[in-house]
Amino acid sequence: MPMATAADLEYRYCGMQNRGVLTLQPTTLSGRDGAIDDMSLLTNGARWIPGFLTRADQEELVRVVRAVVAQAPLYTPAMPKTGKEMSVRMTNCGILGWVTDKAGGYRYQATHPVTGDIWPAMPELISELWHRLSGVDFEPEACLVNFYSEGARMSLHQDRDEETFDAPVISISLGDSCRFRIGGTSRSDKTTSFRLNSGDALVLGGDARLAFHGVERIYPGTSTLLKSGGRINLTIRRVTVPDGGA
Ligand code: SIN
Ligand code: FE2
Repeated sequence: MPMATAADLEYRYCGMQNRGVLTLQPTTLSGRDGAIDDMSLLTNGARWIPGFLTRADQEELVRVVRAVVAQAPLYTPAMPKTGKEMSVRMTNCGILGWVTDKAGGYRYQATHPVTGDIWPAMPELISELWHRLSGVDFEPEACLVNFYSEGARMSLHQDRDEETFDAPVISISLGDSCRFRIGGTSRSDKTTSFRLNSGDALVLGGDARLAFHGVERIYPGTSTLLKSGGRINLTIRRVTVPDGGA
């Protein structure tokens, strides 16, 4: 299957956007399943775009992710200090990958922690998604691939291991739906949750770049995209300060 061209993506995504890019603000949000009822809790800069990817695009993206995983297998990360294993399995593509283990803690590095190989290059389709959604003209450096099986979850955290927060974090969901929770920039801020479905995009930029967020649960059997079920989340990020940037 040929990779979608920029023109294809432009066409498809404009179509979606004309049906409404939802901005997570009180006046504009009407979630697909009506799950969000108090949007005033959310900081500006978080954008949720339900159904951003067509089914065909999702299938193509799954093929791309499978090729990444074939080169850079999913591994089980561990928490800093305690060494407690995470329930989400991970890998990366791009020049840098986000990893964590007991000894080294949260960090970016150029190599897979188990195989020692450099990460697979950023696939064209993933950088295409970055450019469509991020609003910046520099390249993404890291795409973290999270795989959630039925019982996996991710506790509330901020994405703050990057050297720059100028670019948003772009998140794409594939496969089973999840309940996603988001709050403000302090852990004690109020949070709200909603359901992220396969093909949805989420952009955490502006004031929401450092918003606390997490995945509370997976809804098994809610998607036919992945043959054996589960959920894949891609988070695409800039890690280092771009040339000429602050
Ligand atoms: C993450 O915050 O790294 C993952 C978010 C998600 O799985 O939707
Ligand atoms: Fe995150």
